Amino acid sequence: MTSTLGLPDLVPPAPLATGFSAAQLLAAVDAIAPQVIAWRRHLHRHPEVAFQEVATSQFVYDTLAALPGLAITRPTATSVVAELRGGRPGPTIAVRADIDALPIVEENDVDYRSTREGAMHACGHDGHTAIVLGLASLLAPCAAEVPGTVRFIFQHAEEMAPGGAEELVQHGVMDGVSQVIGLHLWAPMPVGRIGILAGPAMAAPDQFQCTIVGKGGHAAIPHECVDPIAIGAQIITALQQVVTRTVDPLDPIVLSVTQFIAGTTFNVIPNSAYFAGTVRTFEPSLRTSVPAQMERVIRGIAEAFGATADFTYEHGYRPVVNDPALTERLRDVVTRTFAPDTLIALRPTMGGEDFSAYQQRSPGVFAFVGAGNAETGIVHPHHHPRFQIDERSLSIGLRYLTAATLELLSVG
Ligand code: NI
Repeated sequence: MTSTLGLPDLVPPAPLATGFSAAQLLAAVDAIAPQVIAWRRHLHRHPEVAFQEVATSQFVYDTLAALPGLAITRPTATSVVAELRGGRPGPTIAVRADIDALPIVEENDVDYRSTREGAMHACGHDGHTAIVLGLASLLAPCAAEVPGTVRFIFQHAEEMAPGGAEELVQHGVMDGVSQVIGLHLWAPMPVGRIGILAGPAMAAPDQFQCTIVGKGGHAAIPHECVDPIAIGAQIITALQQVVTRTVDPLDPIVLSVTQFIAGTTFNVIPNSAYFAGTVRTFEPSLRTSVPAQMERVIRGIAEAFGATADFTYEHGYRPVVNDPALTERLRDVVTRTFAPDTLIALRPTMGGEDFSAYQQRSPGVFAFVGAGNAETGIVHPHHHPRFQIDERSLSIGLRYLTAATLELLSVG
């Protein structure tokens, strides 16, 4: 269904019977599920990468503006925040969705595939946005009954450090918020499963770059050159020793060199070589000790062979650390709301997420909602050109966020 504006028509939320209860709202999730799928497909067709979410944020704004009683603001050019101020006293809680896509050429053959060459929702943020729009449309008609305030955060630029979350926090979106929740649709986990980790859940993703400057010349006369490729290869190999020999083996760490660029042809030793990569950790002290160790190794090896090195290290997002007590409450919510085998044990991931910026301000829990399905070929990892989700994960995610929001508002 598409209106003349190109926006899917808004299906009014299922009418609620008398009263305002978790059971009634959860029963309405199924009624609204087709609309959530339609929103997700609209967003999937029209992906926009970080900081360029112009049409996406307008779509979110227009969809929210069609709902009754929301106070909607645009804290930055491409983000949207909607506040539902309930008619009864209660806490202020925040629910976050990220809205940005990735610079990837989509290879899926679906009728809602990306219409923007070079951009793709390959991480599921289209689904996150649709789910939180669904939650807003379920709750908005009941505003008079809501005990407290629910702030819906539609955040730009999750995929690009320093990220949209930090910017929104600085704009005050967490002011007065007692708890914050969010989710990630997760393709490595089968649809129908939910995982919530207490404590560290996602790593801090830092970045580094290094240029080695040697002395170029003829490949046949290496002794008159300083070969930055040979030196760079030694450095890259030695950096793994920083991981295995200088870090406590009980502290998880990844150091990956993901770019190594040098040279132009077979018979020229180039003047310089460049490499870059990422370090992922949980332990805060490693974010200062590891770059210092890396710098020692890089400078030492470069100097030993007569080259110089220019090394820079940038801190990315903080690790996502879920509040243990809140995690326990939300695990109970999953157990009460879903079939017994839904809640599964999960291990932390070395992937990063700027949801951590909100958790610096208030206790928060970031949940993983299974979206994979090996039987239907939904097996590709996040950020892959053939990434997909099983769309049943959308109503499961909405059911979870609805139940979690009501729990935090103490609605039985
Ligand atoms: Ni993501």
